[in-house]
Amino acid sequence: MESINIIVDDAFTEGESVENGVDRNDLSDDQGAIVENKEQSTPKSPRFSKVIDIFDKDLPNCVDDAFTEGESVDDGGRERERERVEVHMNKGEGETSYAKNSILQRKIISVATSIIEEAVVRSVQKNFPESIGIADLGCSSGPNALMVISEIIDTVYASTNKLGIPLPELMISLNDLPGNDFNNIFISLPEFHKKLKMEKNIGPEGCFISGVPGSFYARLFPKKSLHFVHSSSSLHWLSQPLNKGKIYLSKNSMGCVFDAYLLQFKRDLSFFLKSRSEEMVDDGSMVLSFMGRVSADPSCEESCMQWDLLAQALMSMALESFVEEEKIDSFSAPYYAPSAMEVTSVIEEEGSFTITRLEAFEIDWDGGAPSNNNDHKNPNTIEKYYISRGQQYSKTIRAVVESMLECHFGREIMDELFRRYSGLVDDYFLKTRPKSIDLVVSLTKKGLIVEPTM
Ligand SMILES: C[S@@+](CC[C@H](N)C(=O)[O-])C[C@H]1O[C@@H](n2cnc3c(N)ncnc32)[C@H](O)[C@@H]1O
Repeated sequence: MESINIIVDDAFTEGESVENGVDRNDLSDDQGAIVENKEQSTPKSPRFSKVIDIFDKDLPNCVDDAFTEGESVDDGGRERERERVEVHMNKGEGETSYAKNSILQRKIISVATSIIEEAVVRSVQKNFPESIGIADLGCSSGPNALMVISEIIDTVYASTNKLGIPLPELMISLNDLPGNDFNNIFISLPEFHKKLKMEKNIGPEGCFISGVPGSFYARLFPKKSLHFVHSSSSLHWLSQPLNKGKIYLSKNSMGCVFDAYLLQFKRDLSFFLKSRSEEMVDDGSMVLSFMGRVSADPSCEESCMQWDLLAQALMSMALESFVEEEKIDSFSAPYYAPSAMEVTSVIEEEGSFTITRLEAFEIDWDGGAPSNNNDHKNPNTIEKYYISRGQQYSKTIRAVVESMLECHFGREIMDELFRRYSGLVDDYFLKTRPKSIDLVVSLTKKGLIVEPTM
C-alpha cells in the first residue's frame, strides 16, 4: 500500500463527541452555546493536538452566492444563468470506462477498510436488527460497487457469528445519480449472488440488492430504514457548479470565490447529513471518504493541481483555436476538497451525528499504475502493458470527468485534451511526487435524548 496514514488515529473514541468528551446532548442550551464557542479556540487537550494539526481556521462566509439543492435559481429576483453539469462516470466496460479505470478509487476504499469494519460491527452490536439496511451512496459502476458491498456483508456475517445471533436479512441499496450505469452493476448480480450462496450460504431470499437513483443531497430512503451507510470518492462533488470564471479554484482566485465554494460545500454536506439523519436508525453508523486537504489553503497543490493541469491542457488547445477561451471561462467543476476543520464544523453544526473517527490519508496519484502491479513486472508483458504515469492518471481522471467536459466542450476534443493532459502530468511527475488527500470520517447517529422527568 503506497498510501501513508498521516494522522489521527484514535482522535475521537467511541461515544465521545468532539466537545472533549462531553456529549452536546447532555448539555442545556446555554452550556451548548459555551461549548460551541470553545470549539473555535484551540483545544488544550493533548488528545486533540494530533487532530488540530490538520485543521485550519474556518473561512468567513463573505458571500451567499451559491445554490442549494431544491433552491430556486431565481435568487431574490436576480435570474442567474446556470449550466447543469452532467456528473456521471464513463459508462460500460470500454477502454475509457470507469469500470476499467477505477483502481485508484479501489485503493481509496481499501485504505478505509478497517474503519468500515469497525463501524459495521458497532452498528450490528448496538442494534441486533432482524433485517439490516445498508446503503452505498455514489456507488458508480464497475467492480468497486460490489466490492464494497461484499466487504460489508463479510463483516456483518463475521460479527453476527461472533455474537451468536442469526444473520439479519440484508437490504442493500446502491445509490447514484440517475445517469449512472446501474445496468453494469445489475448484470453482475447473478454471479455475486452465486458466490454469496457458495461461500456463506446466503441465498437471494437473505440478501436483497436494489438500485436507488437520485441525489444523495436529498432524501432517498424511508425513515429509520438504514443501519449502515457508506460513501467513497463521491462527496467532493458539489450539487451544482458555481460558474465563477475558472474551471476550479486556483492561486489567482478571489477571496469571495473561495467563500462561495466553501459555502456550497457546507450547504451540500449539511443537506446530506440531515437527509441521512432521518433515514438512519439511532446508533447507526456511517463511513464517508472523499477528497480533501491537509493544508489550510484551499488553492494548495494537493487539492487543485489536477484541475490546474486540466486548465493548462485546455488553454494550450485554445491557443491553437481548438477550443474557445470563453468556453473555458464558463466551465467550472462542481468539486470541492475540504479541510478536516471545515468538515467537522458542518457535522457539529448540523448536530445529528457524533464523530467517532476522522483520518486523512495521502494517496499517490500513481497509486493505481499498472507498472506497480506484479503482473506487469514480467518482461514478456511489460512492453505490452506499460503506460506512463501521466497516461495512467489521465485515464483515471478521464473516466471521472469526461461526461462533464464533453457536454460543455464537445466530444471531438476529448482524445486530444487527455493526450495533452497526460503529457502535462508526466512533466509534473518529473518535478514532484503528486499526492491527493483522502479524508475518512466515521460517524454515529445520535440517539433520542430522553429528558428526565421531575
Ligand atoms: C468517483 S465515483 C466513486 C464511485 C465509487 N464509490 C468508488 O469508490 O469507486 C463518484 C460517484 O459519485 C456520484 N455522485 C456525485 N454526486 C452525486 C449525488 N449528488 N448523488 C448521488 N451520487 C452522486 C457520481 O455519479 C459517481 O458515480
